[in-house]
This record gives sequence, C-alpha cells and structure tokens, in this order.
Amino acid sequence: MHPPEDGKKHRSRRNFLGQALTAAGTAIAAPSLLQQTTAAQAEKPAITPKPGEMSVTLNINGKQQALAIEPRVTLLDALRERLGLTGSKKGCDHGQCGACTVLVDGQRVYSCLALAVMQEGRQIVTVEGLAKGDILHPVQTAFIENDGFQCGYCTPGQICASVALLDEVKRGCVSAITPDLSTPPQLATLSEAEIKERLSGNLCRCSAYNGIVAAVQQATGQAPPSPAAAMLVREPEEIPV
Ligand code: FES
Ligand code: FES
Repeated sequence: MHPPEDGKKHRSRRNFLGQALTAAGTAIAAPSLLQQTTAAQAEKPAITPKPGEMSVTLNINGKQQALAIEPRVTLLDALRERLGLTGSKKGCDHGQCGACTVLVDGQRVYSCLALAVMQEGRQIVTVEGLAKGDILHPVQTAFIENDGFQCGYCTPGQICASVALLDEVKRGCVSAITPDLSTPPQLATLSEAEIKERLSGNLCRCSAYNGIVAAVQQATGQAPPSPAAAMLVREPEEIPV
C-alpha cells in the first residue's frame, strides 16, 4: 500500500492528467465552436435595417462589423460616421486627394469612392489597423523618423498608400514611369521618381513630400539621403519681355 503522501501524488497526477486532457479537448473543440459562433455572429445583423437600409457585415482591421446602412453610403462615411474610425480623412470626397485611402484586400482604395455595401467578404485595413498594439508598422515609424507629416491631415492616407506601394513593388507591379517593363523595380533600388509617381494619387497641401519620400525610402530598406528626397521643383522659366 502506498503511503498517504504517495497516494496524494497519484491523485495529483490523475487530476493533472484530467485537467490536461480537458484542456486539450477544449483546444481541439475550440476552433469548431469558434467557427459556429463566428458564423452565427456573421448571420445575425447587430442592427435591424430600417426601410431603405441593407444589412452588411464588413471585416475591418480583422473584426467583423455588422451594419445596417443605405446602399449609397460610402465606405469612408461608414468608417467615420458609423464605426468611429476617424483615421481615414475626408479631404475632397471626390477621389482627388487620397486622404481617405484605405487597403481593401491589400490594394489601396479611395474609400470616398467605394460603396460600403460592396465591400462584404473583403479585408479592409484602415490606418488604425496597421500597428500591432503599441508596435507601429515600419512605415508609420519611418514617417515619424523622417518628419513625413506637417499638419498630418493627409498622413493616414499617405501611410496606407505607402504600405500598399511596398506590397505592389514586392509583387512586381510596374508604374507608369517604369522604364523597362520586363524588369520591374525592386524595393532595394526603387528610385525617387518611382516613389513620387506611385504616390501621386495622394496630395499633401502643406508639402511634406520630402519627408514622405524619405520615409518610403527608409521603409524599402534604403538609407534615405535627404538630398535624394528633395522635390523635383523646376524654377519657372523666364518669360521673354
Ligand atoms: S477624400 Fe477621398 S480622395 Fe479625397
Ligand atoms: S501633412 Fe498636412 S496636408 Fe499633408
């Protein structure tokens, strides 16, 4: 017969094994339970649509967001007015400034020109979703370190566009000024002119362009030489009298 201490040890081992198996079972069962819960949440709109509204579930920054909205509501308005995600800015509301740029399935999109109801099933990332907790996205860090903003109003769109730019180059996408279409640009050698061309859909009224170009150069892994980030400003030609 085992002494009482030994018996306690046996019971402890049994308890431990029981707990471990329960935990393992839970871990195995958890994904299916999670899927059921997620599916149930996705099916059930959080808000009952009023006449003229539609139920839509958007995946924004990794979270499912159920909305009841009119079909004419833009993604920008849904983000800002309905979900409180005010990082994306409304500059022109006409697809001209890029302040509202967000990522949809990894591609940059002017959210002022996109209808929210058409984004179901897509992965939407706003500037709020780029950082992982307190750890900034490398492009965000590069903007800070290179003073890529002044008033900051255009900055969220510039940052989202820059994140997309890096992915586009990694995928081998060419731009309108790529000299040789058979050899797409590489991040390590991406020229200043390419960066400017690829960011030309985003305007900055206080002209933080030098810092923005330097930030993108840093994010590509290049050492950003400040003179290389200088704007290509042409002196006005003298007008003959
Ligand atoms: S607010 Fe969308 S492009 Fe200007
Ligand atoms: S930082 Fe002000 S408009 Fe760009």
